[in-house]
Amino acid sequence: MPNTPIALNSHFKVPGLTFEAGRGGGGGQTVARIRTELAECDVYLFGAHVTHYQPAGERPVLFLSDKAVFDGKTAIRGGIPICFPWFAGNGPTKKSPSHGFARTREWGLVDARREGEEIVLVLVLVSTENTRKMWPHEFVFTYTIRVGRSLCVEAKVTNVGDDPLRYELALHSYFDVTDVRKVALKGFAGCEYIDQLQSNAVTAQSGEPTIDGEVDRIYQNHTADVVITDGDRRINVSKTGGASTVLWNPHIAKAERMSDFGDEEWRKMLCIESGAIGENAVTLAPGKSHSMKVTVFLG
Ligand code: BG6
Repeated sequence: MPNTPIALNSHFKVPGLTFEAGRGGGGGQTVARIRTELAECDVYLFGAHVTHYQPAGERPVLFLSDKAVFDGKTAIRGGIPICFPWFAGNGPTKKSPSHGFARTREWGLVDARREGEEIVLVLVLVSTENTRKMWPHEFVFTYTIRVGRSLCVEAKVTNVGDDPLRYELALHSYFDVTDVRKVALKGFAGCEYIDQLQSNAVTAQSGEPTIDGEVDRIYQNHTADVVITDGDRRINVSKTGGASTVLWNPHIAKAERMSDFGDEEWRKMLCIESGAIGENAVTLAPGKSHSMKVTVFLG
């Protein structure tokens, strides 16, 4: 089925869900808009990218940059980009795209349904001639997005090839905060992290981290729930099936270097990326699957 609003609206008739031409013009950027009594959520089929989630009566939970590019080629800056099958520059060659190719591919929508008060979308990305040129492996990636009082995303990868499959994954979630310098974090104390700003030095986290400069850390063997306390609101992030968590804020200098990010926007966002990276990458025997599930809720 083509990823056009007209085709998707006539196929999936789900109360509270419509498909529209999203930002970027040209009709090439179809967005699934969920509007129910419980929540709002937008999902671009480009990248299977959740760009907006807002429970009823609350402020948006996810940050989306005012400068995000919607050209069907560039990864969208904000929301939840999917980093797969590698994290950052860990691809097979120096030319491999940062964070893999999943966030810059058009995904297929295979199911959209209502379950009680929630809406569930199921998107799929499969290996093609094009992905094999960058990464010679056979896979089926099924991404299930469940929208209600909480946002739950499940990334399931199946090895449909004949050889073992090793991949990295990160759900690179950008959270919307009022002032990142004032948020309190919980869930990292006592864990070790790889400091990407200090030549990947492994460092022990003493107490909970605060954001008062650029931060770019990969917490390894980290499965604890994370809580962001931002004034009177608490954003909870819990995961299963992944043992890495990335903490990232670009602060002033890096924000200025990023063309699709406002110079001041670092104050309003914080990335808590649930993943399976480095020593916590996933290895799958032929025919096997692995799922990582992330749930985000306020309270
Ligand atoms: C984070 C990395 O996950 O993503 C950072 O740890 C990186 O080093 C950031 O700058 C953004 O990456 P990109 O490719 O979306 O600009």
